[in-house]
Amino acid sequence: MSETRVSSADGMETSYGFTEVEQGGKQGLVDEVFHGVARRYDIMNDAMSGGMHRLWKDAMVTALNPPKRPDYAVLDVAGGTGDIAFRIVESSGRQAHATVLDINGSMLQVGRERAEKRRLDGCVDFVEANAEDLPFENGRFDAYTIAFGIRNVPDIPRALSEAYRVLKRGGRFLCLEFSEVDAPMLDRLYDAWSFNAIPRLGRMITGDSEPYQYLVESIRKFPNQKDFATTIEQAGFSRVKWTNYTGGIAALHSGWKL
Ligand SMILES: C[S@@+](CC[C@H](N)C(=O)[O-])C[C@H]1O[C@@H](n2cnc3c(N)ncnc32)[C@H](O)[C@@H]1O
Repeated sequence: MSETRVSSADGMETSYGFTEVEQGGKQGLVDEVFHGVARRYDIMNDAMSGGMHRLWKDAMVTALNPPKRPDYAVLDVAGGTGDIAFRIVESSGRQAHATVLDINGSMLQVGRERAEKRRLDGCVDFVEANAEDLPFENGRFDAYTIAFGIRNVPDIPRALSEAYRVLKRGGRFLCLEFSEVDAPMLDRLYDAWSFNAIPRLGRMITGDSEPYQYLVESIRKFPNQKDFATTIEQAGFSRVKWTNYTGGIAALHSGWKL
């Protein structure tokens, strides 16, 4: 708990939670976490956040306000089991197309099965790739979204510059991530919940507390709202701003490729 946030996203490259790892070592550890939890990921999200993640994700999609146009293309990076992509497609009246990109095949497999069950498989596709090296041509997408994903990516400036590259001019960037709580009482409650309850819940539901220890530690290491906004601007985005949700437990950063 005494560990401090990094002041720039550069410092995230070698931090696996509170543990410093060698250059190039973080991604493999992150991949193990998500391979291990994929089948229980959605249940754990509800348990860990008391269902709040659903409201934050809804708010993100409301902010995007996807038009009801069949040529509207969204890339949801670190999209995991598809929560954001499904909301975007539903909110566009099943008109928009969403590509879920994730480095982890286990998370994507759960996403594919969920899409089929909801009969959304015609509007959503799934691509296994790294956020740092997107397999798309320049200017392909109208919007780029990433929810609770960016802090897991080792080279954040590189992922942001890839986001900028694949967006059209006039394209929208939205990033939802856990952030810095700005209310003193809430801060203490949140610390107690994160460092005591979440790893225990993780052990009860998935049989292993370690992945959840990583998740809470990685949240505390991630740059605060202002520092992260600076990193987004450095990638080339304009009109960068953020909105705090639930006292800053989560924050939505947005910007435009102009
Ligand atoms: C906490 S989950 C978020 C999933 C989903 N966006 C959500 O909000 O429910 C983080 C995801 O980031 C993915 N991830 C981690 N590193 C990545 C990378 N370098 N490129 C793409 N995805 C990555 C993980 O595989 C995992 O599915």
